Amino acid sequence: MSLRLGADDDNTAKLDRDTLRSLFTDLFSARSDTSSSTVEWAMAELLQNPTSMVKACNELATVIGSRRNIEESDIGRLPYLQAVVKETFRLHPSVPLLPRRAPIDTKIMGYTIPKGCRMFINVWAVSQDKETWPEPEKFMPERFLGKTVDLRGGDFDLIPFGGGRRICPGMPLAIRMVHLLLGSLLNQFTWRLPVEFEGKGVGMDEKFGLTLIKVVPLCAMATPI
Ligand code: HEM
Repeated sequence: MSLRLGADDDNTAKLDRDTLRSLFTDLFSARSDTSSSTVEWAMAELLQNPTSMVKACNELATVIGSRRNIEESDIGRLPYLQAVVKETFRLHPSVPLLPRRAPIDTKIMGYTIPKGCRMFINVWAVSQDKETWPEPEKFMPERFLGKTVDLRGGDFDLIPFGGGRRICPGMPLAIRMVHLLLGSLLNQFTWRLPVEFEGKGVGMDEKFGLTLIKVVPLCAMATPI
């Protein structure tokens, strides 16, 4: 099987079976856990932080009202929801280590990175830096309110989708999906922890595999609004 891109043979990029298999494996593995685990982390944080949960739900009730479904065009009018998503990306980046290779000898902050050297950019550590983020371990969506922190690779303090030429190609889709999914869950249900977890809280331990996921999957009780 092969796929031809382009109009004529002179200007054709041919994708053979091996290339297609790698492409789809890459796409499938890159997209499967990332968005869902981000929403799971956001829900876990909100269930642990009732004040933030109330603020997010109140904002949705005010902006969306009795309409059932939140739409893409609503996202811009939901600054608190956007702040919740940013704070979740900061605390729980799905891809905490970004692999890179130096194309030429490079000097960074006094260190020499020789050509060809493989390195990992620690996104998790960047988002825990006390100088940039006061009380970095705390879930505080308010830290993003009234600020223009770009999570699309423009601000190196928050790079959940990576940056530069290798930046996540699924980013535009993922940003919409995470806001819509989280907004819908909050707008259509009230949420609480099962009785056995009340008082104990949610286990927030992380496990690093392909992505950074919860060790214990979130269990929460939903009641339709
Ligand atoms: C919350 C959701 C997502 C997050 C946080 C995320 C994050 C990332 C990050 C950090 C990278 C590495 C970028 C770099 O090295 O600079 C990446 C790569 C990639 N992502 Fe995403 N991603 C998400 C969703 C998606 C979706 C929905 C798709 C596809 C529809 C996707 C497709 C890819 C692919 C194909 C790559 C590899 C690109 C390459 O190797 O050049 N991602 N993603």
